[in-house]
Amino acid sequence: MPTPDAPLPAALIDALVGQGWFEWPNAVSDTLCQALLSEAAAHAAAGALHQAGVGRGARHQVNATVRRDEIKWLTGETAAQQGYLRQMAALQVQLNRALFLGLIDYEGHFARYPAGGFYKKHTDSFRGAANRMVSTVLYLNPDWQAAWGGALVIDLKDPEQAPMVITPELGKLVIFMSEDMPHEVLPTLHPRVSVAGWFRCSAGRIDLAR
Ligand code: OGA
Ligand code: MN
Repeated sequence: MPTPDAPLPAALIDALVGQGWFEWPNAVSDTLCQALLSEAAAHAAAGALHQAGVGRGARHQVNATVRRDEIKWLTGETAAQQGYLRQMAALQVQLNRALFLGLIDYEGHFARYPAGGFYKKHTDSFRGAANRMVSTVLYLNPDWQAAWGGALVIDLKDPEQAPMVITPELGKLVIFMSEDMPHEVLPTLHPRVSVAGWFRCSAGRIDLAR
């Protein structure tokens, strides 16, 4: 992972601009991923995860026909979370330098999809309406088998092209533009753990395209 002075993978910025997404295997060390996975497992065992919902604020609701994952927001309360949040902060600096996105912070949560879990097609933000700009998903699944399903499927901008299918192996980070990229999580046969997160810009942003 980058520090503020280390370069990103050469292809990352071009990929975000051109295709809207980037798949980065082994972006985060196995040690840190295992520590995050242990935390998520401990929260699951303690019943500390809660059913994820859709919609913000007053419109928030749990709808098990849309998504079936359980989450816990990162608070930075452990060394592992601090390690990951530091890496995301470094990535934020790099994205701002390269793309002038005006990202000001990052929010993220553990997510655990039980066997049978899925998340139907959605976008993480609506253009102009919200302040999530760049989505990230770090996968925490050692020895993942493609036959278990649970892939992230991202619609490509060119409708002629088959969607991108991304398997959730430990250490892989997927980065995509929150407003433009519809995606879904296919039903998984095996529990599937990740950290989903979003870089945000100021809510008062003026959208010059409108
Ligand atoms: C999300 C999401 C994708 C994944 O949490 O909004 O789309 O692969 N997650 O877990
Ligand atoms: Mn999403």
